[in-house]
Order: sequence, then C-alpha cells, then structure tokens
Amino acid sequence: MKKIAVLTSGGDAPGMNAAVRSVVRYAIHNKLEVSGICRGYTGLINEEIKPLDRRSVSNIINRGGTMLKTARCPEFLTDEGLQKAKATLKKNEIDGLIVIGGDGTYRGAIALSKKCGIPCIGVPGTIDNDLNGTEATIGSDTAVNTALEAIDKIRDTATSMERIFVVEVMGRESGYIAMRVALGGGAEDVLIPERKFDIKKMCQDMVEGNTRGKISWIIIVAEGAANAEAIAKKITDLTSLETRVAVLGHIQRGGIPTAEDRIVATRLGAAAVDLLLKGQGSKAVGIISDNINVVDLDVAVQKKKIPTDVIYNLIRVMT
Ligand code: F6P
Repeated sequence: MKKIAVLTSGGDAPGMNAAVRSVVRYAIHNKLEVSGICRGYTGLINEEIKPLDRRSVSNIINRGGTMLKTARCPEFLTDEGLQKAKATLKKNEIDGLIVIGGDGTYRGAIALSKKCGIPCIGVPGTIDNDLNGTEATIGSDTAVNTALEAIDKIRDTATSMERIFVVEVMGRESGYIAMRVALGGGAEDVLIPERKFDIKKMCQDMVEGNTRGKISWIIIVAEGAANAEAIAKKITDLTSLETRVAVLGHIQRGGIPTAEDRIVATRLGAAAVDLLLKGQGSKAVGIISDNINVVDLDVAVQKKKIPTDVIYNLIRVMT
C-alpha cells in the first residue's frame, strides 16, 4: 500500500472534516501518499482528485461541512459508473480507498470492493446514527445538540403562549435524533419511523392534560415518521387546541462539530488507515464502549436496532 484516497459522500455531517484531517495526517505519518476525491462518488467517476498534504487539512477540525464537498450519486451503482471509478483509481495508482458517509456511501464501497477489487474502508459519517457496528456516527452528537438548542428556544414560546408545538427533526428512516431530543428536551411525545404511534391516544392525553392545566406540549416528529403539518392539523381537528409547527431541517446538518464528534472522527479516521495498512478491505470502523470496533461493510448497512421502547416509556413517564 503506497497511495490511498479519501472521499466524503451522501449528506454532510459535522465532524467529516476532522475525519478527513485524521486520515490524511495519520496516513502521511505512516509513509503513505494521500489524495482527496471531491464530491464523493461523482468525483470518482469524473476524476476530481487532488493530492493532500498535512497543511491542506489545517484549520478544518472545527469546521462543519466537508472540505472535499459531497454529493449523492445514484449513477455510481451502475456498471458504467463503477468502471469509470475503477479507471480513476487505477490511473491515479490508488491502492485503497477510505469513504466517509452513511449507508448509501457504504453500499458504494461494497460494490467497489466486490466488483472492482478495490480495498475500501468505511468511516461512519451521518447525523442519523443508523449504521451497525458502532454506537456513534460522526455528526450525530452535533446534530442532536443543535436540534436540542432549537427545541429549548421553542419551549420558551410553547410555555409562554400555552401552545402545542410539533417539531420536525431529520431522519427519513431513522428515529435516532427524534428519540434523543425528545428525552433530552423534555418533549411530551415522539413519532419515529421505527415505532407505531397512536395519534388518537396522544390527542386524548392532551385533552386530559388540558383539563389538569397542562396546556403546552412539545411533540417531536422524525421526518420519516409523518408530516409535521399533517400531525398538527390532526391534533387541532381532534382536540380543538391551537398548534404550531417548526421544521428544523438542514440546520441540524451544519455547524461546529462537538468535542465528541471531533474525537470520534479523529479516532476512526486513523483506525481506517490502520486497516488498509493491514491489507484489509470491505470493512467499516466504529466505536463501541470507547474501543475501536471493526465489522464487514455488509453488516454495517444492515438495519440498526435502537432501544425505542425503553426510551419511549421514559419520555412518557416524564410528561
Ligand atoms: O442522511 C442524513 C439526512 O440528513 C437524513 O436525516 C435526511 O432525511 C436526509 O439526509 C436529507 O437529505 P438531503 O440533504 O439530500 O435532502
């Protein structure tokens, strides 16, 4: 292994830059050359590649987004896309690739490893924290804290004006952020894609609460569970109570990464380089109980189970 490349792909996540920095500096420390591929798999197809040295990753550890830029690239999984990517790697004499991203990114790496024989290592970078083999994914801690800060502000109005707020957080297929902010932000209920919900029961609870003098409610909705506007309308229809909606959207993906995300990113970037140096491929690195964990990429993309019932019951007890 003489030369490796690194890319970021899919939705950007705070801490991706710290991971790129770690890959570059750890690889150079181990006498490897490093190239950066811009715009994820799109850049691999279009040969958007540049050499990276220690200085090219200066002053990015504290920055959100990704200096390598990122993209979603469905074309990549076609035979033509894969062959173009393979040609870029061969032409530039890249012996191994580190991909930083979520499950879509990992699926690209699986195809590249299996169909083109390129050793690929996945570093989990997604705010959704929905990859197997790791307790944390880079960006999820920052996203939860960003959403929590917004919910704390919404609480001021919810309390002062005695209103019901439906707050939509990110997570098309993952209720991770929703569950965390519901518990950490003291929300009264949470709707996530992984768990059935009973809106009529929720409305009954609101009406009963209302008679006891509990007037302000915060309901967290993961974007993949339901449409926040539709939920708010349904609540008003069933209870006659006034509702407001706040969709937090992409503010959850940006911003300064938390200490935790930077630390995880730095550890995982280095661990990914170590695996390539050991001649490994088709693996994903992760963190479990503060130790580096390695799983096959195939395992990493399997549906992750989150302990929804335990957390959900606690959220409801706290209302
Ligand atoms: O995968 C991360 C994520 O932020 C999801 O939570 C969200 O559903 C999706 O990306 C949004 O993607 P885009 O920025 O492409 O609209």
